[in-house]
Amino acid sequence: MSKTLKIALIGLGARAVGLLKFVIYNQKDIEVVAVCDTYADRIDSIKALAKKKRRVEPRGYLDYKEIIEKEKDLDAVIIATSWEVHTDIAIAFMNAKIPVGVEVGGAYDINECYRLIECYEKTKTPYMMLENCCYGNLELATLRMVREGIFGEVVHCKGGYKHDLRDEIAFGKTNRHYRLAEYQKRNAEIYPTHEIGPISKILNITFGNKFDSISSCSSKALGLKEYIATRKDKFPEIKYLENATFTQGDIVNTVIKCHNGETILLELDTTLPRHYSRGFEVRGTRAAVFEDLGKSYFDTNEKMRVKTRSLKYAQRKYAHDIWKWYKKVGVRGGHGGMDYLVLNAFFEAVRKGDGHMPIDIYESVTWMAVTALSDLSIKSGGKPQEFPDFTNGKWKDRKQQGSGFYFLEK
Ligand SMILES: NC(=O)c1ccc[n+]([C@@H]2O[C@H](COP(=O)([O-])OP(=O)(O)OC[C@H]3O[C@@H](n4cnc5c(N)ncnc54)[C@H](O)[C@@H]3O)[C@@H](O)[C@H]2O)c1
Repeated sequence: MSKTLKIALIGLGARAVGLLKFVIYNQKDIEVVAVCDTYADRIDSIKALAKKKRRVEPRGYLDYKEIIEKEKDLDAVIIATSWEVHTDIAIAFMNAKIPVGVEVGGAYDINECYRLIECYEKTKTPYMMLENCCYGNLELATLRMVREGIFGEVVHCKGGYKHDLRDEIAFGKTNRHYRLAEYQKRNAEIYPTHEIGPISKILNITFGNKFDSISSCSSKALGLKEYIATRKDKFPEIKYLENATFTQGDIVNTVIKCHNGETILLELDTTLPRHYSRGFEVRGTRAAVFEDLGKSYFDTNEKMRVKTRSLKYAQRKYAHDIWKWYKKVGVRGGHGGMDYLVLNAFFEAVRKGDGHMPIDIYESVTWMAVTALSDLSIKSGGKPQEFPDFTNGKWKDRKQQGSGFYFLEK
């Protein structure tokens, strides 16, 4: 069995509970020794869960700084708080030389990205965004196809966070969920990483390619207003929002131009009725995948025909090594298995201890910057914004470690 890692978990909301129940507490070699939330009752619930699952309670803290002072043998920290505090907490742990795994979220401004880079370059403490969708079955099968040349040259990618979150947002006060405040003060591509993560891996962003410019455009914001107006009588707890202002547009479209000539289209769509989708599409000169259609297309040389296949066919035929292994040992954990894969890639990298992370800080910060820059672009009426190069020119020669995913690469 591998070395038991002692970890701290900061932020004990819905995500943390899911990670504990479906991934961490099913693994003997991970010990959660400290937990933290600003709500005492959330600490108590996690302690109760730990007792049930492990018979040992973690130490509880209301202030993460105390963890740094008191917990002297931590191997890593996982930050699953609301977005606003991700960076301050990450920097505090990086300064204490404790490797950081941070849940997904975008940056509020570009300075936040530079603060992370500066801290990393000073401390060299590993930092990884825990972007689970990079480990999705479809995303990894597509990556394999791209790397094996099945797509010819990739020209365009598309993705979206298309998830009807109106109840989560409108009931945010009752559920103490941070998204409500975000939708009342921001207007940006505020949740880009589920799409831009896997797309960046496909396009080798920060590894020989980079984002050059970005522009965003937002629709008006009416979805939440309508939702609250029609439900306020049945649910009096949301009545206080009937005259509230929501700034976050219902649909935000973002276009990114890459240095090697590809374009990316992102769509954030979270406050109108719809089904869940990440709308993943990759278009190459010889193949395409379309998540929403459930189809893939392959150019053949026989009579210049295009073969139409189901996505399932493509996922089976071009299954990534990670997923071949995963299906053999049994898919587990949340979000169709991706949560187990991303967390264990992080844990493996921490155990290996050579300083590399499967999603490193330059990639993480580049994805986070999409939010900050889309905000600026929307404010300027859609004007393209130059995309900063956080690698300071190193993107030209940077090489991925192994497959770039670390998993199974001991
Ligand atoms: N990867 C995924 O599929 C996925 C899914 C859901 C959420 N998430 C991410 O997980 C994170 C948390 O989301 P959630 O839905 O659990 O939110 P949530 O609001 O339910 O929980 C966040 C928790 O952080 C706590 N917190 C805030 N500031 C804190 C501080 N200074 N110190 C300690 N705790 C603090 C809050 O009190 C709250 O309990 C977000 O980054 C979100 O984007 C990822």
